[in-house]
Amino acid sequence: MRDEFLDPQVNDVVEESDESGLRPKHLEEFIGQRELKEKLNIVLEAARKRGEAADHLLFAGPPGLGKTTLSGIIAAEMGVRLHITSGPALERAGDLAAILTKLEPSDVLFIDEIHRLSRVVEEILYPAMEDFKLDIVVGKGPAASSIRLALPKFTLVGATTRTGMITGPLRDRFGLVARLDYYDDNELDAIVRRAAGILHVAIDEDGTRLIATRSRGTPRIANRLLRRVRDFAEVRSDGKINGAIADEGLAVFGVDNCGLDKVDRAILTSLCKQFNGGPVGLSTLAIGIGEQPETLEDVYEPFLIQKGFIARTPRGRVAMPVAWEHLGLTAPAQSPGLFS
Ligand SMILES: Nc1ncnc2c1ncn2[C@@H]1O[C@H](COP(=O)(O)OP(=O)(O)O)[C@@H](O)[C@H]1O
Ligand SMILES: [Mg+2]
Repeated sequence: MRDEFLDPQVNDVVEESDESGLRPKHLEEFIGQRELKEKLNIVLEAARKRGEAADHLLFAGPPGLGKTTLSGIIAAEMGVRLHITSGPALERAGDLAAILTKLEPSDVLFIDEIHRLSRVVEEILYPAMEDFKLDIVVGKGPAASSIRLALPKFTLVGATTRTGMITGPLRDRFGLVARLDYYDDNELDAIVRRAAGILHVAIDEDGTRLIATRSRGTPRIANRLLRRVRDFAEVRSDGKINGAIADEGLAVFGVDNCGLDKVDRAILTSLCKQFNGGPVGLSTLAIGIGEQPETLEDVYEPFLIQKGFIARTPRGRVAMPVAWEHLGLTAPAQSPGLFS
């Protein structure tokens, strides 16, 4: 069984309103990502001074790190409207054309999962991004002709969990390509504190710290764990969260002392036990734990690699010593992770 609430991709409806309440609206409220914020500040400030739309921006990184939030911040900072869509939602050329023709000057168009745009839609996007022109084909067959519409200058903000899957021509049309990194414990501490303030949760320093350190470096997970621990505290005690309550609550919800959830542990267990530490191919490993290969690659693997639990080799994924240790297992003598 998987813990849906830990999956950073799941935006369950119940918590939607909470989530939007927790979303920072301005750049100064956005915690961490200092370098990115600095660059963004300059881009936005310069655009404001010129009275023009900001350059097109591409944000890359694992889910839950703040890409969607940033698109909202950009629109707010520029004082323009935000239009939201996603790669998979734009099936046909007409879908994109319908959105583009609704844009007002300087508006922000946010395309989530932009790496999943179809080829035809991408082709329409190029002249729209570059020359603010929209080519529409009218009619069919030999009688077909194309008309060119002028679009207002707008800012395209793209988000992707995979920079590798963005085509070169698309990538080149962004003025700024920025990668979001996992947050450190101090930043997550500040994020939990901020969320607790907004949600009126009574939590002490130990409790805040504990949730921060177990959030897989991800603000969305930090917020989610805070809500779960709040539930736990309300049901099991007086609703106040301290270190002990947070620890107990997180254990109930399957989050271990490294912040790994059930899926993370299933990956490590499968890799070590079933595949003897690897190397094993991504799809084989994904089948072993009943996940989609993309989910494994985009959502779970980056954090496990960053923390040194697993490594990616040309022949597949291998378990590193930390993984064996974390599971309380002994690595076989010729474990690839130990000698690679
Ligand atoms: N830098 C940040 N500071 C404070 N909260 C953040 C930050 N980044 C993300 N969040 C919180 O995490 C949640 C998920 O962020 P989101 O922008 O939806 O991530 P992504 O689009 O990258 O998946 C948001 O609702 C917001 O509350
Ligand atoms: Mg998002």
